Amino acid sequence: MMTEKPTFYITTPIYYPSDKLHIGHAYTTVAADAMTRYKRQRGFDAYFLTGTDEHGLKIQQRAAEAGQEPLAFVDGIVDGIQKLWQLLDIDYSDFIRTTEKRHEQVVQRLFKQIYDQGDIYKSEYSGWYCTPCETFFTEHQLAEGHVCPDCGRPVQMAQEESYFFKMSKYADRWLEFIEANPDFIQPESRRNEMINFVKQGLEDLCVSRTTFDWGIKVPFDEKHVVYVWFDALVNYISALGVGSEDESKYQKYWPADVHLMAKDIIRFHAIIWPIILMAAGLPLPKKVVAHGWLLMQDGKMSKSKGNVVDPVVLAEKYGVDAIRFFLLREMAYGMDANYSEEALVNCINIDLANDYGNLLSRTTAMIEKFLGGVVAPGSEGTDFDAELLELAAQTPEAMAKYMDKVDVANAIGEVWKLVAKANKYIDDTAPWTLNKNGEVEKLKTVMYNLAEVLRQVTILISPVMPNVAAKVWQQLGLSAEAAGQDWTALGWGGFPAGTKICRGEALFPRIDWEAAQAAAAAENETTEPEAETAEALVEPVKPEISIEDFERIDLRVCQVIACEKV
Ligand code: MSP
Repeated sequence: MMTEKPTFYITTPIYYPSDKLHIGHAYTTVAADAMTRYKRQRGFDAYFLTGTDEHGLKIQQRAAEAGQEPLAFVDGIVDGIQKLWQLLDIDYSDFIRTTEKRHEQVVQRLFKQIYDQGDIYKSEYSGWYCTPCETFFTEHQLAEGHVCPDCGRPVQMAQEESYFFKMSKYADRWLEFIEANPDFIQPESRRNEMINFVKQGLEDLCVSRTTFDWGIKVPFDEKHVVYVWFDALVNYISALGVGSEDESKYQKYWPADVHLMAKDIIRFHAIIWPIILMAAGLPLPKKVVAHGWLLMQDGKMSKSKGNVVDPVVLAEKYGVDAIRFFLLREMAYGMDANYSEEALVNCINIDLANDYGNLLSRTTAMIEKFLGGVVAPGSEGTDFDAELLELAAQTPEAMAKYMDKVDVANAIGEVWKLVAKANKYIDDTAPWTLNKNGEVEKLKTVMYNLAEVLRQVTILISPVMPNVAAKVWQQLGLSAEAAGQDWTALGWGGFPAGTKICRGEALFPRIDWEAAQAAAAAENETTEPEAETAEALVEPVKPEISIEDFERIDLRVCQVIACEKV
């Protein structure tokens, strides 16, 4: 009898069409993709939705500036976004555009249903609006300087006839729901923030606009277009065909297991979206998980600040797997992470080249040199085997504990403990000494154990780095089938005895950051415009300090004799 696979439905936010999606945007999509691949490895029927959020004043204005119709304007950009996801190996199940009919119909149906039952009513809106964030604010919500509290940009007065959604009516029900489902909002700090927000009093939400027309028409009052956030949030069910002729995907995957997003839009997902669903009488998602921001030295990466880092450039320079690994390894659960190219290079050099890549090259080099390239366990073991095997046996569960919380950074950390242990195992067992002493059976066991750890680590890490497995299997002399690709292949001893390895190039070549910097500087120098004066190239000199201040400085010279990664 065929048993149905358990399902897993994960979503990212749908992106505003922008030709400058940056590495910060890419974090959410890469994390959701890694989660999907992980769940598939574990036997789930995993469904991953992403897409684009194409309506609203901001798009209408940008299209007008470009002298194009909004839809024609976004078409090309959306194409670019899909290409970016392809480049980053994002294997989504569906890509929804809010300009698609299948989406518009659901938004209109839901809006009318909620209106008919009396939870949407017509009134007059008067307040502030941030167009880049597409968000309404009351006077007291504005930040100092009378600017948007989220992005710090100027807000505009909006005064118009609007429909309102009775959010206030659902505040108590929302609080009860959160109480009964303590894991609904993750991490916990965000949960507390959301509870406080609702307890301060939930106001009805303005859900239509009349001062522009690029949006989904309110079905019973065509002068209005649906507020872009009401429109956008519905994508999570419209993509599944809710209420359509074929509801099979909706029946199968809804409620979503995880809505994943950055912290700045948690309020929309943790409060507004569940209340829309409550009003519509539909089940609520199981979890809303907010990650932190990828920050630059001067704050959040954003197009308006001009500090965005292009993922296409990075992928070309360092490879897609390395970029994906860096993003997922660096962003600790729920926290912000700092981006710098140097940090990326360090991560490649330390975690990938030194730890993982080196484990593969040391292992294959020794198998080739000492054992004629053949992997097979020996009849004798060493004192260090038990500890290595024990950690290998524990690692999948340790990793799963974190992955199931969408804490990918710590999940990778668990796998890397095993990588570190295997590297230490080489030092402890000293295969070169076993070889010198003619202890062939022990040597064979050590080499087999190392090859087997590499097989396990590679299976575990392939949701994060989808291209790495093929390269490792080639060097280990395995076909993908023989190596195994999912968790059923993780049992110890799965490495086929008698395999002939095939040593290859470094998995992640080390990058000489200083040399790369010097080369880049030299290149800049040759292309520097001649008119540039020497003064312009010198950093501004700090003001002199007095001799008294100088005397207070405790200057010491020291030599670093050892250091370790923290
Ligand atoms: N269109 C809305 C989402 C609607 S979902 C129903 C939107 N789009 S966005 O393009 O501005 O942002 C998409 C996602 O990227 C959001 O989760 C946003 O917070 C995230 N990020 C944007 N900049 C980021 C960083 N610098 N770091 C991490 N994530 C960032 O919001």
